[in-house]
Amino acid sequence: MDPIGVFDSGVGGLTVVAALRRRLPAESILYLGDTARLPYGSKSPETVTRYTRRNIEFLVGRGVKAVVIACNTASALALEHLHLAPGMPLWGVIEPGARAAAAVSRGRVGVIATEATVRSDAYPQALRRLRPDLSVVSRACPLFVPLVEEGWHDDEVTARVAERYLAPLLEADIDTLVLGCTHYPLLKSVLARIVGPAVTLVDSAEAVAEVVAQGLTQAGLALPSHEGREGGAATQHLCVTDAGLSFQAVAGRILGAPDLPLEWVEVV
Ligand code: DGL
Repeated sequence: MDPIGVFDSGVGGLTVVAALRRRLPAESILYLGDTARLPYGSKSPETVTRYTRRNIEFLVGRGVKAVVIACNTASALALEHLHLAPGMPLWGVIEPGARAAAAVSRGRVGVIATEATVRSDAYPQALRRLRPDLSVVSRACPLFVPLVEEGWHDDEVTARVAERYLAPLLEADIDTLVLGCTHYPLLKSVLARIVGPAVTLVDSAEAVAEVVAQGLTQAGLALPSHEGREGGAATQHLCVTDAGLSFQAVAGRILGAPDLPLEWVEVV
């Protein structure tokens, strides 16, 4: 039973893994957190594309049947340059996130993401393709990823930082806020308090899980739902490219299983 390969620069992609496990409980998952090279969000498109290629080669080398780029930065910068072997599905997170936002917005969308994702303009382009009427304001939030990796999710310091980042978006009177980095759903409670109930938060994880479920079925790669975890066989295996004490603590919180074993791997 080949697993689905999923990667991110760190713990953020596990928010997508949690959604995949809810939507596809029978499927096994092999996760790679590229902790040695995090953050991706401050790096050039060439570098992020190179890291993305290496990560995918690693996952494919371990026998995955499909790959999910659970990182907005890598999806925005690298996805269009990648060509996998025929029959090996590959999904990013930008398009599903943009679709989810376009479906709920009343017209004014805010996007928060890493610097590289904002610079790529991937979200505004995807949103306007879907709904040319939308006005889109973006804001890079580079301090969020280290705060999440540190585990400061619902914290006074994080709230102060978030207030500052979100102020221009609130001034622009947004009605929808896209969490355009897979780390950010972990800050949902802080962000929701700051933006208030009139702004809908869009986390692409559930939308990505749905796209993967449909894609696996179309490709003839989905497991029958009676197999896998329900039958006791689905596994989740976590790999990191550098030691990850805080990774382990945060991963345990996201996946609801403390002390998850981590395999330390080299991806070059
Ligand atoms: N979680 C990633 C994203 O969705 C990247 C964070 C980073 O490494 O900067 O963009």
